[in-house]
This record gives sequence, structure tokens and C-alpha cells, in this order.
Amino acid sequence: MVSLAQSDVMNFLNEIASEYPEAISLAAGRPTERLFDRLSPQRLAEALGEYQSSSAKGPLRIDDLLQYGRTAGVIPDLIAAQLRTDQMVAARPNELLVTSGCQEALMLCLASICGEPNDILLLPNPTYVGAVGAAQACQVRTWPLEPGDLPEAIEKAAVQIGKAGRVPKALYLIPDFDNPTGNVISEAKRREIIELCKRHRILVLEDSAYSLFNFDGQSILPMAAMDDAGCVIHLSTYSKTICPGVRVGAATLPETLFGSRDDQLSLWKALVQRKSYITVNTSSICQAIVGGLLLDQKCSLLNWIDPALRVYRTNRDVMLKTIERTFAPYAGVVGWNRPAGGFFLALDLPFDFDVDAVVECATEYGVIVMPMAFFAFDDSQSRSVRLSFSAVTPDQISTAVEAFGRYVATRISRRAVA
Ligand SMILES: Cc1ncc(COP(=O)(O)O)c(C=O)c1O
Repeated sequence: MVSLAQSDVMNFLNEIASEYPEAISLAAGRPTERLFDRLSPQRLAEALGEYQSSSAKGPLRIDDLLQYGRTAGVIPDLIAAQLRTDQMVAARPNELLVTSGCQEALMLCLASICGEPNDILLLPNPTYVGAVGAAQACQVRTWPLEPGDLPEAIEKAAVQIGKAGRVPKALYLIPDFDNPTGNVISEAKRREIIELCKRHRILVLEDSAYSLFNFDGQSILPMAAMDDAGCVIHLSTYSKTICPGVRVGAATLPETLFGSRDDQLSLWKALVQRKSYITVNTSSICQAIVGGLLLDQKCSLLNWIDPALRVYRTNRDVMLKTIERTFAPYAGVVGWNRPAGGFFLALDLPFDFDVDAVVECATEYGVIVMPMAFFAFDDSQSRSVRLSFSAVTPDQISTAVEAFGRYVATRISRRAVA
């Protein structure tokens, strides 16, 4: 089984995509570009202007936005309002750090929370490579959770880590439409996890990158909105809802950390100080553009994302239908989930799918898919792939899934012959 270090995954995929440009990529977890024409240079300039003229103290000078800006950000009030409206997170502007995307929010939190050599970050297995990469970059030790029931795995890990003389300090989760699995953590499990984390004093880093892309009905409250213990830090981003190019996200702290206002304040200061050494401040121009769009949308992005939501829902449906048709002969052998939102679906195969398999699929079948093993700490995911349906058209999805089906059929028949 040929595998890759998680840090090499992104390079590998970019190289494959540029080496085989005709292959359809179900690997990239990007937002669709079909709606980027809503963000023409003129529209971006209008948003900037709208933000400038919104200041209660009179129009903001462009010079103020071109200068270095406040480290904690210039639009925390607008972001807090949007998080309150769209996600019911009780965000307070003074405790919300505007970051260069969710990735910076994650890095800052990991480095500031897990600062001691014995501090451990718990993560699901598989999980978002960017979280593992951020932990490595900050030299934070990681602890992959066992598969199965999440609260049970957290409890077990906390006890084992404690016995080993270490401290389970933080837990990274993507409760809504997980990257890479597409799965959702149920409301009951979210509440159980908060109780456990309260008991073990573990801070939850709740990554909500995909939360607003809910296709099938009632959203579950974010963990940050259920948190009565002061243990959930909410990480958010405009990369998927507006566009990744703005590089604007946020870390929203609870009012206290486990009931302590002092601890919360000292974490806040540590985050701001660290940010001042890393990116100084998030681009004020980009914040102003996001701010103008938020003002235009009355601090709710639900209408704005509706066209994208429809694209992703249609794509998910086409992917599911094609998978059902293509893999019908392999019922009980090939399995998949039915993501209720987000960008990703997980497909289980009856054979290992590694780097060589990615190359074979790209060259011989014209489709690029992501081995789930790329997101894993061990070989437990070697027989799964992640299929992304966000940045492709319905036609590309059916062509690519059918092509992947031919590859799977060949692999299964090769196995039968062997
Ligand atoms: C789960 C998750 N978190 C964070 C990010 C990074 O987001 P940003 O562009 O805001 O840094 C991604 C990007 O794909 C992601 O999938």
C-alpha cells in the first residue's frame, strides 16, 4: 500500500490535476466558480464603498483601509451579527478575532492552547489534513480518536492520555458535513461531548466551514450555541460562503473558559499577540469587502448562499443517483453515505485504494478521486475514497462516477482472477 505524508497530500493532488488536465477531478474541495461572477471587480468595489460609507463617524477614508489595521480585525461587529443570525452562536464583537481564513484561526488556537510539551490535541480519524498540518507546524502532539462512538472514544482517550502523564487540552471537530466524510454529529452526541469536555477540561475547536450548506432540512445547533460550560471555540470562514480569495475567517471565544473570565481574557490576549507576530492583521481591504457584502445582506448570508446551495444539492443528488446506478451490481461490496450537506461523500471499496490507484484512475479512466487514507493517521481508511461534488458540473459528476465504476469493476474482477 503506497501512502503519503499528510503534508504531501495537497502537492500530490495539485500535481496530478495539472499533469492530467483532461481528467475530471472529484478530489478538490473547492467552492464552485460558477457563481464567482457575482463578485466582479465592480461588485467588489461597490462592497468596499458600501462598507466605507457605513461608518457612523462619517465615511471611512480609503487610507485607513490601506494602512496596517487593528490586529483583532475591523469588522468583528458585522461577523458577530452574521454568526448570531445564521448560526445562533452568541458571538460578541470584543471576543471575536478576525483571521486570515479558518486555517489561521486554527493555527492560532492550537499554538495558544496547546503550548506545553505534554498538551495533546484529540482529532477524529480521518480528519481534515489542514488540522493535522497545523498541529505539526505548531509542534502540537496529536491523538487520533478510535472509530465508533465519538463520546466513548473521547472519554477513553482522555483517560489514557491522563494515565500517560499528558494533558488532553483540545479537541478538533467538524460537526457539520465533515471534511472528509460528509458526516454530521447528532445533537445528542454534541451535548454529550460538551459534558465530557467540561469534565476533562478539554477545549473544543469547532470548525464550521461547511455548516451553512445544509441540503435536507433542520440544521443542528452549533456546539458553540449549546455550550454552557465555556468549552467551545467556534471557528468560521467566508471561504465557502463568499470566496476563498477574501481570506477572512474568525475565532469566536465563549464568554468564559470553564467559568473563568480571567482564563478567557488571557487566551484572548495570547491569540491577539500571536496573530500580531504572524499576519499582523487580516487584510483590512478584504475585511471591508466582506463587511460591505454583509451590510448589503443585512448580516445574514442565507439568501446569498442559496444559489450555491442549490448547485451543491443538485450535484449531491446527481452523484448519489449515479453511484446507485453504477454500483448496483456490487451491493454489499461497495458502500457509501448520503451526506445531508457540505461538499463531500465517502465511498467504501472492497480493496485498498492508494497513490498508485489515484494515478491509474487519472491516466486510464480520466477521473481523480481522493484516497481516504490521505486523511488518516493509520491504515484504517485504506479502503475508502472521498468524492467531492462541489466544483464540478452534474455532467462531469456522472461521467466521472461512471468512469470510477469501470475502474472498480476492473479491480474487483482482477481480484477474482487472482
Ligand atoms: C474543514 C476545513 N476547515 C478549514 C478550511 C480552510 O478554510 P480557510 O480557507 O478559511 O482557511 C478548509 C478548507 O478546505 C476546510 O475544509
